[in-house]
Amino acid sequence: MIVDRQGRRFRNLRISLTAACNYACTYCVPDGKRLVAAQDELSAEALIRGVAYLIEAAGIERLRITGGEPLVSPKLEPFMRAVGTLGLSDISLTTNGQLLTRKLPLLLEAGIRRLNVSLDTLDAEAFRHIARGGDLATVLDGLEQARAAGLKIKLNMVPLRGKNLDQVLPLLDYCLERGFELRFIELMRMGHLARDPSAFNQQFVGMGELLELIGERYVYQQAEAPLDATALRYEIPEGGFFGVIANESVPFCRTCSRLRLSSTGWLHGCLSSSNRHYIGDLLDKPRHQALPALQRLLVRALADKQDLAFSGGVTVMKIIGG
Ligand code: 5AD
Repeated sequence: MIVDRQGRRFRNLRISLTAACNYACTYCVPDGKRLVAAQDELSAEALIRGVAYLIEAAGIERLRITGGEPLVSPKLEPFMRAVGTLGLSDISLTTNGQLLTRKLPLLLEAGIRRLNVSLDTLDAEAFRHIARGGDLATVLDGLEQARAAGLKIKLNMVPLRGKNLDQVLPLLDYCLERGFELRFIELMRMGHLARDPSAFNQQFVGMGELLELIGERYVYQQAEAPLDATALRYEIPEGGFFGVIANESVPFCRTCSRLRLSSTGWLHGCLSSSNRHYIGDLLDKPRHQALPALQRLLVRALADKQDLAFSGGVTVMKIIGG
């Protein structure tokens, strides 16, 4: 097992099925751009081999499937059919929910029990303004169906000053009523926001302000969370939980156990680092050749982790979300 001086090791893998997305959220995609699939994306079979090799070489236990938007990828079906056989203790998926209704049967059949759905507002007009794609009612429909199917659901919301702060309480109410766990993600300096501090500062809302806002309506107390969790969890005694991923206010790099694999075959040990390590070529090699080479790259990827806090990066959530 590869462990660093801070005792960190890779335990959780995030795999991006595709860089394509049917949204163009303002904090993720620069104006006028769309996210399309990269030309050199790996096949579902290669990505599955990547997961299998990383389970062995890095000790990966849990997998999150992301994108781009994973549900738009034609690789979703073959990938989902194979991924359940790899012996992972947990498989979950992050989606914007736009295609949830259509893909739900496949996800259920593949054994998915948990979903994270990104939803920044319940206001249709604000939704159009932030997501710049998709349709709010379709997402809400998908969420109801996923809930009816018994999936455990977390909602991700990025609070943005001037865009959706008025939605903090409505979204929390919506989630508490349905047994969903709402997670507020402090805006991160990624992609174009890393290059534009004033745009970041204008929109950033910190955890303190957020908790104050929630405190106007609810009593809450801090709840237990796993040691390597990114979210601080809170319990509302009247019934329910919410979380804050407070990347700026309460950095969590010291316990980070995440490894990311892009749809084009690059390993990222840290979102803050521009370093990445190509493994696409190793995935065609037999296990006895691939694993030692992979282990050497994993040592380097682990060394890319920040000591304390995310400090911004050109690496973008859009190619390897969550
Ligand atoms: N800051 C914070 N959260 C972000 N996400 C995407 N980009 C950013 C950013 N710059 C969120 C999405 C999604 C999750 C995977 O990451 O809203 O919910």
